[in-house]
Amino acid sequence: MGGELFVVFVLVIIFVTKLSVLISKTSCKSKVPMRGKVIIVTGANSGLGFETAKDLAKRGGRVIMACRNEHRALAARDLIIAETGNSGVVYKHLDMSSLASVRRFVEDVTSTEKRLDVLINNAGVNGCGDRFTEDGIVEEMQVNYFGIFLLTLLLVPLLKKTGESRIVNVSSTLHFFGRINFEHINKKGYYLDMFTYSNSKLCTVLFTVELARKLKGSGVTVNAVHPGIIMTNITAASCALERLLFSSLCWISSRNVVEGAQTIIYLAVAKEVATTTGKYFIDCKESYMTRKTKNKKLITDLWNYSEKLVGYEELKDQVTCQT
Ligand SMILES: NC(=O)c1ccc[n+]([C@@H]2O[C@H](COP(=O)([O-])OP(=O)(O)OC[C@H]3O[C@@H](n4cnc5c(N)ncnc54)[C@H](OP(=O)(O)O)[C@@H]3O)[C@@H](O)[C@H]2O)c1
Repeated sequence: MGGELFVVFVLVIIFVTKLSVLISKTSCKSKVPMRGKVIIVTGANSGLGFETAKDLAKRGGRVIMACRNEHRALAARDLIIAETGNSGVVYKHLDMSSLASVRRFVEDVTSTEKRLDVLINNAGVNGCGDRFTEDGIVEEMQVNYFGIFLLTLLLVPLLKKTGESRIVNVSSTLHFFGRINFEHINKKGYYLDMFTYSNSKLCTVLFTVELARKLKGSGVTVNAVHPGIIMTNITAASCALERLLFSSLCWISSRNVVEGAQTIIYLAVAKEVATTTGKYFIDCKESYMTRKTKNKKLITDLWNYSEKLVGYEELKDQVTCQT
């Protein structure tokens, strides 16, 4: 009898969760055109990045698909051009696991583009094991955070020059499970993959808050987003148990990639959030972030640690608002 009650209890919980998720589904209602605007979407060849790039291309924007694999990127670009009729969609090579690649990408962008209206830091990985990058950084941490840190700060001058511009950082609810311990943040074998992922997404949220503070009054806004739980390639490299857990959560969340991209698109285009900065969004609404965003020392320490690790301490002068 006890066992039967337990099964009923679990089924009720699943039913209520699924119902509440279905009710909370939203879409970006904004019809703002993006003609004349330049947008960078990292990791735009698949999943949420692909859907975001397609939507922004439909709005007439010049979309730069910043991807690591030329073959996959060109196939995705051709698909977007065919579906939207917008030939202003281009591919530029960017491997977030290489700081040299990030620098080359920024050189390329700043030599071809006169403006940058929206930077969408979407590229991400989960389950890279204990791999280190050529820069000696844990791969998951570099792709999901340290690479974003360098890329964003190097693009800040162009964003500032454009006037009103936006940065959208794709994070995750898993940032609530993140921990930052500077002794272990870049150590092999210390954290399970899932926790390294959470740590990287926590860093992204703290970076968002601090960058927003530094850019206040410059016309550049920066916000973070949790897109929901959506079946994409994100766990392709994860272990079987993690993939099984993720698939179950995807089933409960029952959200597809188009729905998942809505909050990212909203932050990139909607007039209502033109001046909103330093916030975290879910389902096109501002949401709660971890209490760690109130820890000024942690945020400053992370910023200083990141500057040192990516080897660019002069970035301080670039991001401080000079109005
Ligand atoms: N799906 C979810 O439930 C969920 C939930 C919360 C947050 N997110 C976040 O949403 C973002 C998009 O993920 P997704 O779910 O759409 O997964 P996805 O389909 O796997 O897309 C990830 C994208 O990032 C690219 N990427 C990976 N490593 C890269 C590198 N070193 N340099 C440049 N690009 C790289 C991938 O390129 P390749 O195709 O070449 O691998 C792909 O285009 C990620 O930041 C993820 O953490 C997803």
